[in-house]
Amino acid sequence: MIDVIDLQKVFDNGFEALKSVGFTIEKGDLVCLLGPSGCGKSTILNLIAGLLKPTGGDIQFKGESVVKTEPKDRNIGFVFQNYALYPHMTVLENIMFPLTVGSKKISKKEAKEIAQKYMKLTNIEDLSNKKPGTLSGGQQQRVAITRALVQEPEVLLLDEPLSNLDARLRLKIREEIRRLVKEVGITTIFVTHDQEEALSISDKIILMNEGIIQQHDDPQNLYLEPENLFVANFIGNPVINLLPVHIENNKVTHEHFQTEIDKFTSARFKETIEDGDYILGVRPEDLIPSENGILEANIRSVELIGRERILNFDFEEHHIKSIVPVETVIEENDTISFDFLYHKAFIFKESGERVY
Ligand SMILES: Nc1ncnc2c1ncn2[C@@H]1O[C@H](COP(=O)(O)OP(=O)(O)O)[C@@H](O)[C@H]1O
Ligand SMILES: [Mg+2]
Repeated sequence: MIDVIDLQKVFDNGFEALKSVGFTIEKGDLVCLLGPSGCGKSTILNLIAGLLKPTGGDIQFKGESVVKTEPKDRNIGFVFQNYALYPHMTVLENIMFPLTVGSKKISKKEAKEIAQKYMKLTNIEDLSNKKPGTLSGGQQQRVAITRALVQEPEVLLLDEPLSNLDARLRLKIREEIRRLVKEVGITTIFVTHDQEEALSISDKIILMNEGIIQQHDDPQNLYLEPENLFVANFIGNPVINLLPVHIENNKVTHEHFQTEIDKFTSARFKETIEDGDYILGVRPEDLIPSENGILEANIRSVELIGRERILNFDFEEHHIKSIVPVETVIEENDTISFDFLYHKAFIFKESGERVY
């Protein structure tokens, strides 16, 4: 449905915001564009919507380039972080508005029927006669999404639509958005910097950094099979433990422990490892207290988080975390021996490339 090919954007001031971005989105998919602030997410949406012109590459809908098509002719619904509703109009009037202007305008009666159909879908029928100023943030966001949907666009673009809402409401509305776009069957790109939000609602995630796609994959693959150090470090909460190691003559040596390369699962090596410096990545749940483990640590603090405990200890400036079931009673200042799950660990080159 949407093909983005070698897309580039250099702004007038010379800043290269996108460096050859390419991806395909299937019809009806809900795809998240995820990444830290400034990585180029909004730039991509604005290019797809036609609000910005690319400096290179192409954007195609159903195999046809839309780069020269006017924004209004691209058949796109766009919801921004700051959903600008018309303050003097009621909710119903706001939602009807796009249907009653422009070349494709329809009668007020028809517009009202369509608006009401979608308001039912988004559960805002009760708000029909209210003015935006009297609505909560969550309600305003629902109105903005409904207004985008009434035009029955082929593509829905949502740019951090939930970031002005409080945590509980975000949780609720993101579930609603998923249900809604699946029900309508609309191809949707959802921008967020929140990994949890992305993991919970997407069919696919496109994770970006500094104008480059780092991984475009099923949500769970970003966690289980990160393609590089950036992905491993970005996805996961608490974050992955990154341990600098030196590998030589089959020995893997960290300042505080040593192990052997033979203990790692041979099928997981992406290439033969040359001697040198690497970064060993171990997720907190894969670092496990065990008798006669390969490393010993003095527990600095223990956080109880419901079903689990997070054990914190330090290797100099590196803060290390291990997650254990709540039944594992370990306390501050205990000295604990740990092992890690070799078949779930990662090894990265210092450049970030994953080799295991
Ligand atoms: N009009 C512009 N001129 C110059 N730089 C811009 C312009 N718009 C955005 N940028 C820069 O491009 C980068 C990507 O911006 P943006 O796509 O808004 O990031 P995101 O949405 O991922 O936070 C940022 O570093 C931003 O400062
Ligand atoms: Mg943005």
